[in-house]
Amino acid sequence: MAQVFITGVSTGIGLALARLHLARGDEVWGVSRRAPIDLITHPRLHFRALDLCAEDPGQSLVQAFIGETAFDTAYLNAGTFGAAPELASQTSVDAFRSVLELNLVAVKWVLDRLLCRQASVRQVVFSASVSGIRQRAGMLSYSVSKAALNALAKVYHLENPDVFFAVLGLCNVDTTVAQTILQADERFPELVALRERSTQEGYIVSPEQRAQQIVDLLAKRHAIALQSGQFYEIRHLLERIDLEVCP
Ligand SMILES: NC(=O)c1ccc[n+]([C@@H]2O[C@H](COP(=O)([O-])OP(=O)(O)OC[C@H]3O[C@@H](n4cnc5c(N)ncnc54)[C@H](OP(=O)(O)O)[C@@H]3O)[C@@H](O)[C@H]2O)c1
Repeated sequence: MAQVFITGVSTGIGLALARLHLARGDEVWGVSRRAPIDLITHPRLHFRALDLCAEDPGQSLVQAFIGETAFDTAYLNAGTFGAAPELASQTSVDAFRSVLELNLVAVKWVLDRLLCRQASVRQVVFSASVSGIRQRAGMLSYSVSKAALNALAKVYHLENPDVFFAVLGLCNVDTTVAQTILQADERFPELVALRERSTQEGYIVSPEQRAQQIVDLLAKRHAIALQSGQFYEIRHLLERIDLEVCP
């Protein structure tokens, strides 16, 4: 039985990961503001409701919650796109800051809480995005946060060689984050084109499908020579191991 920690466990990919690990017999520690409703009574789910943007008392709550549990995998997954796509110059500093607060700053302090203990964490999985390496108009806050997340992962990898850091661009999953991006208006033709592509059969995958692919990939990471701290688009990895592909 593996011990798994997940941030952003109430919806989307985090919820699907929690459901999958529980179904495999693992023990799951999850945090988010809302509860994962249908899992909340599960005997192997430990849930703590908290806002990761409220650093204080969030940090001490996380520390007390995880205690000295040795984790096989920590999914630092909670994230937001913020409001619908907007021009960079029209994005307020507050809106910019609040996306970075969750997608980057909270990842840093949660990771520190995990690493500063006697107990080990074997692998850390970041919910990264291709928008961190391939920018598009309308996505300032999200792209900056995910680009910085890639850099953060690389530095932590260099300083913590005993921990495996998987940096996975999760790509087109049917959740609030993706639905918000697809609300783009005509000022953002690349995103409008993405919305059109997303209506094609199989272009957008379900959180359950993606969670299964993530877990399968991690199990095969030695076979596919996945490098710690290195960003990968999950669809390219899936092609590599001939699993179900997101086209
Ligand atoms: N969907 C995609 O296509 C895609 C692609 C690439 C990367 N990703 C990344 O995947 C991750 C998961 O997103 P998702 O797509 O599954 O979207 P989602 O359904 O919106 O999930 C976001 C999760 O983050 C939690 N969260 C948001 N604000 C929080 C806060 N202040 N404190 C604690 N938890 C908070 C939410 O829970 P509460 O609201 O209950 O707090 C929710 O559980 C994100 O990092 C996203 O950037 C997604």
